[in-house]
Amino acid sequence: MRTVFWEDNRVKMIDQRLLPAEFVIAEFNSVDGVARSITEMYVRGAPAIGATGAYGMALAAQVSTASSRDDLLADLRAAKDVLDAARPTAVNLSWATRRLLEVAEQTVTDNVDDLRSALLAEAETLADEDVAINRRMGFNGAAVIPDGANLLHHCNTGALATVDFGTALGVVFACQEQGKSIHVWVDETRPRLQGARLTAWELMNAEIPMHLIADNAAGHLMRAGKVDVVIFGADRIAANGDVANKIGTYKLAVVARENGIPVYCVAPTSTVDLNLPDGDHIPIEERGDDEVIHLGDTLIAPAGVPVYNPAFDVTPHRYITGIVTEEGICYPPFTQSLKNAVNAAQEKIVENRLKRKK
Ligand code: MRU
Repeated sequence: MRTVFWEDNRVKMIDQRLLPAEFVIAEFNSVDGVARSITEMYVRGAPAIGATGAYGMALAAQVSTASSRDDLLADLRAAKDVLDAARPTAVNLSWATRRLLEVAEQTVTDNVDDLRSALLAEAETLADEDVAINRRMGFNGAAVIPDGANLLHHCNTGALATVDFGTALGVVFACQEQGKSIHVWVDETRPRLQGARLTAWELMNAEIPMHLIADNAAGHLMRAGKVDVVIFGADRIAANGDVANKIGTYKLAVVARENGIPVYCVAPTSTVDLNLPDGDHIPIEERGDDEVIHLGDTLIAPAGVPVYNPAFDVTPHRYITGIVTEEGICYPPFTQSLKNAVNAAQEKIVENRLKRKK
């Protein structure tokens, strides 16, 4: 099953807030609802957020009452603003909404129903491509994972963080398909516990050997020689290879360097933001106090305690061994290798669009 999909003129998704206790499909029939599903983390993970944004744009076209091309384009631009504002760090969101808006702007027709169909078709294509890209990325990454490796993984980067298959966990699934024996140390990933709730659930379902660890255990395991590779995804990668990912990633990369452990970031080219020269320019989302002071319904700190809750951090590129993309593994100097990968991916999108038109 896909994490996010289109059915009955609605955007539907697995409600990740409830996992692993309950498996519920949530559905949204308004752009504001789709934006809320992103902000409130029904859906999360950079590529999954991107696909949700794309379906949100398709929904905007369907629910718009516009009868002229210009009015429909105006509604789509307004929807893009609402969707882009839902979460600031994962660039896949604005990448996807821009792609949908460009299709509308470039489709030469005055028939608004044709435009509506074109938008929905593009959202479905983007979702299908996400799955294919993740599989390619997974097998690209598997090439650097030795048989018998112990991986240390942060946050959730599996099927749930994408349309299907995953980014960094996709590498793990690819290793499994290749018959490699792999063991994963799963960071619980405070404060939202994506590792404990989602990654552990996905790995257990796939019967991949793993242990859940408290985030604070990671350094101890690395120093004890129990980690061969550190692997994680990304929410935005600057042109120089600096990586924004779930809070706590930076600390892992620094300790990995101290212990001579390779660090791989696994992300599609849609996560690369060539407009930003370095990680200092990446907007870092700050989320509410509740995530830090509550575990479920239990208050774990004095009521009223001041809280600071940044959701992401930036790992400078010097700590990263390689960035695995669907176009291959980018190595330093990242400024050049990332540009090559992004250009190659962009050419494929254009080629495929032309093929579909024929
Ligand atoms: O706050 P989240 O759960 O959306 O954060 C997700 C991550 O940080 C993932 O590691 C990232 O999106 C890359 S993997 C798809």
